Amino acid sequence: LESVVSGSPRGTTEEVVRVELGARSYPIYIGAGIIETIGPRLRERGAASRLAVVTNPTVAQLYADRVCRSLEETGFTPVLIEIPDGEEHKNLASLASIYDRLIAAQLDRGATLVALGGGVVGDIGGLAAATFLRGVSLVQVPTTLVAQVDASVGGKTAINHQAGKNLIGAFYQPRMVLADVEVLGSLPHRELVSGLAEVIKYAIILDADFFDFLESALPQALDADPEVLRRIVSVCCRLKAAVVGEDETESGYRAVLNFGHTVGHAIEVLTDYNRYLHGEAVAVGMVFATLLSEARGYCDPATGDRIRRLVERARLPVEVPRDIDAGALASAIGVDKKTRDGAVKFVCVEAIGRSRFERIEGRALAAYLTMWRAQETESAEPRGTE
Ligand code: NAD
Ligand code: GLY
Repeated sequence: LESVVSGSPRGTTEEVVRVELGARSYPIYIGAGIIETIGPRLRERGAASRLAVVTNPTVAQLYADRVCRSLEETGFTPVLIEIPDGEEHKNLASLASIYDRLIAAQLDRGATLVALGGGVVGDIGGLAAATFLRGVSLVQVPTTLVAQVDASVGGKTAINHQAGKNLIGAFYQPRMVLADVEVLGSLPHRELVSGLAEVIKYAIILDADFFDFLESALPQALDADPEVLRRIVSVCCRLKAAVVGEDETESGYRAVLNFGHTVGHAIEVLTDYNRYLHGEAVAVGMVFATLLSEARGYCDPATGDRIRRLVERARLPVEVPRDIDAGALASAIGVDKKTRDGAVKFVCVEAIGRSRFERIEGRALAAYLTMWRAQETESAEPRGTE
């Protein structure tokens, strides 16, 4: 693992985090205003001149010109491929349309596929790169906070199936990630805040100093301050790179990144993926996991209070919505693809920056929800007068 701060070709501060995976190691470049360095960087790496840029209409309108100009100025002939915007298009039809365009453009095995967009474009573009001609080079240019701190790093690629999210996919590492924090300035505020949930997640499970930093820099992060976002993205990438370097294919430790996701994912399923953004559901899941850790005596109440306070200050939701009953939550957790023999490998908090795994059954998790709701109702009931 290596982190280097250097001057970027445009004179802005740039950081390089390396994901160390032997022959498949790669750099993550993080900086403000570095999207236009894509052409020179690919030229340096000797990429073939014909390449594809996969994106969606929203991102294309904002950034495709800058990316394609940089590529053309350095001698590339990019083919721009757009898939429709939205999680509902992270499917086989979009993937097939990418294959059709790659074949029509006669791209060969030496080609590079650049995924320019949020996690949806990154996941589907990554799967296209992993499978087209049994694998072509992949470059991730993430444009959302979720994609910069999480989806573009670590090689998970996927599409959804009617039966569930990310059911079809592959581990396929990119050759390079180019995270330009300046592009986060055009993100809808709700998307930025949703990304901050994943950022808070890294701090809770892996890095107490980073948690301290977030407590003080949260207002600037919510204002999309590029310097604060650069620091946030680089810390998160360093943390994720370390986890992935240790356990690339999630045979064990990588599951720590699922903190807040067991309950979060169940909430997304139970609200048909249309009420909460992913990070918002994860925020509820993180607070749930923290309360559970407190209830079982794994962490002290002061730790729990700090976590809840930060999540609330980020204006993220903290409670399982009342219209989800405990039984439904238990069933949704029971069918999660990570559940084995009815129990999940649940990530608990021990202290800020330290976590542990516990195998817990879905119905045991739901029983805590029932208990907390009963306690709340009790404390909200007016006391009788004598
Ligand atoms: P997204 O890709 O749907 O992007 C959110 C919205 O922001 C979209 O409408 C998009 O067009 C728009 N957008 C993107 N960049 C923009 C910009 N700079 N300015 C303005 N608008 C912009 O959502 P997401 O939150 O980035 O990613 C969620 C997806 O990522 C999910 O499918 C999830 O499964 C996946 N994911 C994968 C991993 C992984 O490890 N592979 C990790 C986390 C999430
Ligand atoms: N997003 C979780 C992981 O990459 O493992």
